[in-house]
Amino acid sequence: MARKKKSITDLLITGIADKGKAVGRTEDGQVIFVDGAVPGDVADVLVIRKKKSLSEAVVTRFVKYSEDRVEAPCRHFGVCGGCKWQHVDYSAQLRHKFQTVKDSIKRIAKLNPDLVLPIIGCDQNFAYRNKLEYSFSNKRWITQEEAAGDTVIEQPGALGFHRPGSFDKIVDIEQCLLQDDFSNEIRNFVRSFAHKNSFTFYDTRAQKGFLRNMIVRNSTQNEWMVIMIFGHHDDEKIPFMMTAILEKFPQITSLNYVINVKVNDTIFDREVKVWSGQPYIVEKLHDVKYQIGPKSFFQTNPRQALRLFNIAVGFAELKVSDNVYDLYTGLGSIALYISGKVKNVTGIEEIPEAIADANINKAFNGISNAAFYAGDVRDILNDDFVKLHGKPDVVITDPPRAGMHEDVIKTLLVLEAPAIVYISCNPATQARDLALLNEKYETLAIQPVDMFPHTHHIESVAKLKLRK
Ligand SMILES: C[S@@+](CC[C@H](N)C(=O)[O-])C[C@H]1O[C@@H](n2cnc3c(N)ncnc32)[C@H](O)[C@@H]1O
Repeated sequence: MARKKKSITDLLITGIADKGKAVGRTEDGQVIFVDGAVPGDVADVLVIRKKKSLSEAVVTRFVKYSEDRVEAPCRHFGVCGGCKWQHVDYSAQLRHKFQTVKDSIKRIAKLNPDLVLPIIGCDQNFAYRNKLEYSFSNKRWITQEEAAGDTVIEQPGALGFHRPGSFDKIVDIEQCLLQDDFSNEIRNFVRSFAHKNSFTFYDTRAQKGFLRNMIVRNSTQNEWMVIMIFGHHDDEKIPFMMTAILEKFPQITSLNYVINVKVNDTIFDREVKVWSGQPYIVEKLHDVKYQIGPKSFFQTNPRQALRLFNIAVGFAELKVSDNVYDLYTGLGSIALYISGKVKNVTGIEEIPEAIADANINKAFNGISNAAFYAGDVRDILNDDFVKLHGKPDVVITDPPRAGMHEDVIKTLLVLEAPAIVYISCNPATQARDLALLNEKYETLAIQPVDMFPHTHHIESVAKLKLRK
């Protein structure tokens, strides 16, 4: 017999937990994650999953709405799953992110939470992204309202974003507020052109269909890149579609296509063919220019990345005589950004293609005092490396969400660079690493920066000084 699900009445939602779920606590201390609620809401909930110390619940009735609730501006909110916090006032989002960083610093790093400086928000909290990846599908996600209504549901192919938890169904997007509206114009044109000409939309289960994915990238320099990804070659349809896109949008700086007949969607192992324009777009942060190719990683919120880099520069207190290591350098964006302010900078990154981009951009900017190495920081940063490049005056480190490997932290503790600037996209792992570095380094300040409004993601920069 199925166990009866537990109801909880009058649950006060108090905060936002990891992965952006709203969280409340029952009188007996049970932690309850609640989808769709906002801190400050009081709700009756039904527990749908119970684990040892926490449970997941859905709202059955709102008793009182939070004062921080706002109308989500996006028409696809709640269906698309892209920006889960749109219904939370932006200043409240910032407050919760700030608190998350403070909590990690106190609870995990065991440091004084007053070290955390007031969070820096985004001036532009929509149209801030420079890259969106759309998918085509012959299975459009049908919303609950559509299913409950009387109108006959048409089922033409969809072009938009994956429905969370559903690998083959796509939410048909009419307007996404995350990228400049030109991205909407391109996407909507491509979809109607495809319908008009009866092109097939990809069937993920059967692994067939002509139109598969579409990537739209742009830069603050108003350069635009479109990459059409086709499920198979077609001598007639590909030129027909690419010509139509270019005729409609001659301002696209880099128009490309890829044939992907593999099972997975990634284009990293596929050849990208340039249909028109340059094989890259150009981004500019202050006086450094970056060529961004179809496969290059680049910070997805460039305006806020500039702020982040400037905070890192300020925390590093760079001098023209400084020798700097930039760990987890990506395509060298920080290393190149600071190269004019220091004597030498050396970047390490595990993805060889990113290092190739770093070298292209080094040449593009005529920079001669930067060097880049491909490999795991854990292996590359060793005695021979330090002998070759000299002891660093400053280490800038920007690891992935998992934080730094323990061995890298041990190496840093032996290396004893006078200053470390630690950029992180995960306050919990940053706090863990600060606690380990605390053996020799004093954390002087932590600056949270919001790079991704309406999501739970937080970036934070820590300033560390070697203890005498
Ligand atoms: C948060 S990104 C930092 C990117 C870069 N600092 C920037 O601003 O563009 C982290 C980078 O670390 C790289 N990475 C992850 N694990 C690594 C490892 N063990 N050794 C070297 N690089 C690694 C990833 O490929 C990614 O480019």
